[in-house]
Amino acid sequence: MTTLDGRVTLITGAGSGIGRAMAEAFVAAGARVFAVDRSADALAGTTEAVRAPESLATHLADVTEQPAVDGMLAAAEQRFGPIEVICNNAGILDRMMPLDETTDEMWERVMQINLTSPMRVTRAALPKMLERGAGCFINTCSIASFQGGRGGVSYTVSKHGMLGLTRAVATSYGERGIRCNAIAPGSVKTNIAARAEPSAAGRELRKKGLATRPPQADAADIAPIAAFLASDAARYINGALVVADAGWTIY
Ligand SMILES: NC(=O)c1ccc[n+]([C@@H]2O[C@H](COP(=O)([O-])OP(=O)(O)OC[C@H]3O[C@@H](n4cnc5c(N)ncnc54)[C@H](O)[C@@H]3O)[C@@H](O)[C@H]2O)c1
Repeated sequence: MTTLDGRVTLITGAGSGIGRAMAEAFVAAGARVFAVDRSADALAGTTEAVRAPESLATHLADVTEQPAVDGMLAAAEQRFGPIEVICNNAGILDRMMPLDETTDEMWERVMQINLTSPMRVTRAALPKMLERGAGCFINTCSIASFQGGRGGVSYTVSKHGMLGLTRAVATSYGERGIRCNAIAPGSVKTNIAARAEPSAAGRELRKKGLATRPPQADAADIAPIAAFLASDAARYINGALVVADAGWTIY
């Protein structure tokens, strides 16, 4: 059983899918969770699912805006005390767009949410963690962090970048008590695909990619990995990518 014993944890994209399941798993393990999302309705659903008002606070913020990032970190600390764990989880898909269909707008939106925002959240949270000599980041990467055909080009590049961010933070600050790890889910039943209907070329790419797909995971299959990575049981794990895809990518 993972124990998180009051650990103060901020989760982005906590209103749906993997982020909501993380909120549930962390609270079940004893953590105090500050759940952030840009959708108030989604956050209300998370409050309803977790049902632990003393251990869960919700906060409406768009993580692409720097003032909103600073505001959410300050609000989390005010509510629960120093932030010990951050799950950089908010993310969007890119309609499986190959490069010749990718507009600047699509590229920039996906990069903003999937890569720039986690970088900014991490950068803003680091100084206080370094002062205390302890801190833990868990980044929701993807099998698109190391394969080429699991998303369109924007998503693939953003998730490769997130793995780079994970490793660079781990190597830069590991000796000062910071751990930064990543999870690479395969295919998980959440709302993410419904929010980004693939283009025609994207449908073809997806068909190829899905040909060997094992049964889809539930978000609840991924969340306990994050809880473990946040726990003292994982104190020797830094800069790791935990692949959770039922073996999809080993073939
Ligand atoms: N579902 C999968 O198959 C799968 C596979 C690999 C990786 N992932 C990754 O898992 C993470 C979570 O995705 P999910 O599948 O649970 O999706 P989801 O769409 O169910 O949940 C994502 C949540 O993030 C929130 N969000 C998006 N942009 C935001 C922003 N700018 N500011 C604040 N909140 C924002 C959304 O409102 C939503 O509640 C993503 O990073 C995704 O890339 C998902």
